[in-house]
Amino acid sequence: LGTLALVAAGGYLLGSIPFGVILTRAATGQDVRGIGSGNIGATNVLRTGRKDLALATLLLDAGKGAAALLVARQLFDSEVAGAIAGGAAFLGHLFPVWLGFKGGKGVATFFGLLIAAAWPLGLLAGATWILMAALFRISSLSALVASAAAPLYALLPLAALGLPAPAPILSLAAFTAVLIWIRHSENIGRLLKGTEPRIGAKKG
Ligand code: G3P
Repeated sequence: LGTLALVAAGGYLLGSIPFGVILTRAATGQDVRGIGSGNIGATNVLRTGRKDLALATLLLDAGKGAAALLVARQLFDSEVAGAIAGGAAFLGHLFPVWLGFKGGKGVATFFGLLIAAAWPLGLLAGATWILMAALFRISSLSALVASAAAPLYALLPLAALGLPAPAPILSLAAFTAVLIWIRHSENIGRLLKGTEPRIGAKKG
């Protein structure tokens, strides 16, 4: 139990690094929480007009989830340890102590986790996001559909792709999907009203 608590604490600390806030402040002096949707993620960083910062935020927020999972899985040779560290990193992104526990929505970290946990699952979920974004150009809608689909993909009997996924990975996909939906409640409200902005639009 002590070991698992350490794994969770390490994952949390890694996940709590708010790359969107750090990069935007360093490069532009702005607080990303004061623009657009107020979120700290790549979609909102893009509303500063800086594609490079948005891409870096996406990769680093995804990378911290992937790193937490991979390091714990390797260290303890355990899928459960990997999923606990990954889940804790996801919670760290959503509730970072450094920002008064007001963090992000978890989409980039979710993709990093899935790719690290079972890359075919990450690929399917990522392709779903890209397809939805190509069709509708709305980041939140793409994330809602991709996150809802991920636990279903994890159940697919695609043995050649390493699926269905083991129980810890399926649990991680379901856990993160539920939290992503909860964190998008304002986005869901705007989607229903038809006022959710398109990707790259300055207003949110
Ligand atoms: O990654 C979060 C995205 O799904 C929505 O971001 O800033 O439009 O609320 P935002």
